[in-house]
Amino acid sequence: MTTDLRRLLTRTTELALAYLETAGDRPVARGASMERMVSALGGPLPAGPSDPVKVVESLALGAEPGLVVTNAGRYFGFVEGGVVPAALAADWLTSTWDQNPGFFALSPAAAAAEEVCRGWLCELLGLPADSSAGFTTGAQMANLAGLAVGRHHVLREAGWDVDADGLFGAPEITVAVGEERHATVDRALRFLGLGERRVTVVPADDQGRMRASALAGALGDGPAIVCAQVGNVNTGAFDPVGEICQVAHERGAWVHVDGAFGLWAAAAPSLAHLTGGVALADSWATDAHKWLNVPYDCGVVVCAHADSHRAAMTLSAAYLARTGSRDGADWTPESSRRARVFPVWAALRSLGRAGVADLVERSCAQARRFAEILAADEDIAVLNDVVLNQVLVRVGDDDERTRAVAAAVQAEGATWLGTTVRHGEVALRISVSDHATDDEDVTVAAAAVLRAVHR
Ligand SMILES: Cc1ncc(COP(=O)(O)O)c(C=O)c1O
Repeated sequence: MTTDLRRLLTRTTELALAYLETAGDRPVARGASMERMVSALGGPLPAGPSDPVKVVESLALGAEPGLVVTNAGRYFGFVEGGVVPAALAADWLTSTWDQNPGFFALSPAAAAAEEVCRGWLCELLGLPADSSAGFTTGAQMANLAGLAVGRHHVLREAGWDVDADGLFGAPEITVAVGEERHATVDRALRFLGLGERRVTVVPADDQGRMRASALAGALGDGPAIVCAQVGNVNTGAFDPVGEICQVAHERGAWVHVDGAFGLWAAAAPSLAHLTGGVALADSWATDAHKWLNVPYDCGVVVCAHADSHRAAMTLSAAYLARTGSRDGADWTPESSRRARVFPVWAALRSLGRAGVADLVERSCAQARRFAEILAADEDIAVLNDVVLNQVLVRVGDDDERTRAVAAAVQAEGATWLGTTVRHGEVALRISVSDHATDDEDVTVAAAAVLRAVHR
């Protein structure tokens, strides 16, 4: 190694440590404007080379005011996991090695890690052991892949080859979705030519769970796909996947489960009952960058029909050498991609089964604590059954006041949480999914909410 590279990586380590060691004491977000950030990172395109040490120093300095501290325990917006240490370190090695898991010949190491993690994840999440798996950018692409496999499978059963002949003249597919499906399911259906508006919407109950009893009437005799969900993005609620599978499979339909974060409940003994029947489905989408706490990005598509999975995803060209071993391009919509499996391997190896269960259960316990503290205030109503890591809160039964509380909390910087609209009412949306979140973080964050409520 040249001295310069050693100096560069040593300096980069110092910058990373300086960030991580102070992250818990920083404002969670500083509300930096786009103009400010563009001026910090902008300027004319450099005319020539610069010292890489100076480059990373100016990146760290310029990015600083626009960094949102999502991985230090007090960020409760969206569903953002933190980062467990082994996964962070493995992510550095992933960039260092610069492996491409598209084809075995490009990285036997990445191919083996994908195969090992496929098996570990199936075991941990209670999915059939011989399921196939692909490592995608996130649950969006995992939903797309799972639904593409479903489209291939149900049309093949109907005697139609969608990969060769497309959807022109194909038998119509009924696509049934829950009323409260995630937006990425709609987008996946749009990409697949199945149409956002052409779906049959199955009503949901007050927690957002699909009513399985209403599903039977939504499916005809032809090819059909049902999109179920475990972990409603607002309430955390779980569709009754076992019942859904029973109804759907009687009619030969494919069941895809969007379990971006909720599928991880299967790894926690006290919560696994929520995912009952999930193993009966045909494909599943989840995220590792949410509850497994690996750095962005990593989603996973898992499929109970490996042949259909490979047939729907594979690509070939004369120059793409095949060895008969795992070629990653057979299992995702991408060709070249990052070996994002290494941080997954490291997270699973460092946490083990007990560590993942503890992470998930602690998050849920903190969500319940958050809800209890806030519910004790007479101006606050908790809107959902806190079954998982999600808490919905409304202030003074008033949209404007609820929005104003979110804005005040965000501006103060002690914590960050966002808003949503459910059944026409604005609510604060609190999501706990960082391994670092402890009692003190929730106490500080709840106090910030209460300050804003009574300001
Ligand atoms: C239920 C659900 N599905 C899908 C997604 C999309 O995941 P990603 O942003 O990782 O693609 C999310 C993200 O929050 C989600 O909560």
